[in-house]
Amino acid sequence: MFEDGAKCAECHSTDAGPNGEPALLTDFTYDNIGVPANPENPWYQQDAFNPDGRDWIDPGLGGFLATDLVYAPYAPAQIGKQKVPTLRNVDARHSPVTAKSYMHNGFFKTLEGVVRFYNTRDVWPRCAPDLRTEAQALANKCWPAPEVAQNVNTDELGNLELTPADEAALVAYLKTLTDE
Ligand code: HEC
Repeated sequence: MFEDGAKCAECHSTDAGPNGEPALLTDFTYDNIGVPANPENPWYQQDAFNPDGRDWIDPGLGGFLATDLVYAPYAPAQIGKQKVPTLRNVDARHSPVTAKSYMHNGFFKTLEGVVRFYNTRDVWPRCAPDLRTEAQALANKCWPAPEVAQNVNTDELGNLELTPADEAALVAYLKTLTDE
């Protein structure tokens, strides 16, 4: 499922690393997978550093490229792209009750929510503007708009046609990636 049915390994590679290491679960590329803004991101309230407040968006790789004269021409095609993270220890936590959050901005708090997003991002309707958290999205079967609308990957995710049992199997697999 991880390698074929749900295409996860197209980015979270299960091949051996360059020096023969066990799978690193990233291919080190960048993608905008359309993660919504996290309304609970404390950065929005840090006026001293973030004059844009709630309007701030994370430009990802494109924002970095735009700061360099040589690379700036390549920036627009990379706006909103984040590096594919490893999934090693993705469920590791200090104790069973320690809270987790996922993605560059912490929008997701659960692996169930992450997998449902990959499966239904382009199937569920857009949420009403007042529904902005992962919990609200899951309860109302809708997804908020992506934080960055440009360059969203629609080839490998968004409508995977997975059953609830398939989703649960993927979550179970992600939970095996925790070191002893
Ligand atoms: C097109 C490339 C791509 C595919 C396919 C893909 N991912 Fe990802 N994944 C990413 C990127 C990029 C991020 C980081 C996005 C961000 O931070 O906004 C990510 C983040 C994650 C995270 C959060 C990790 C963390 O530490 O925050 C999980 C969990 C995850 N992916 C699981 C999966 C699963 C399960 C699948 C298959 C259903 C999958 N991914 C398919 C590119 C991909």
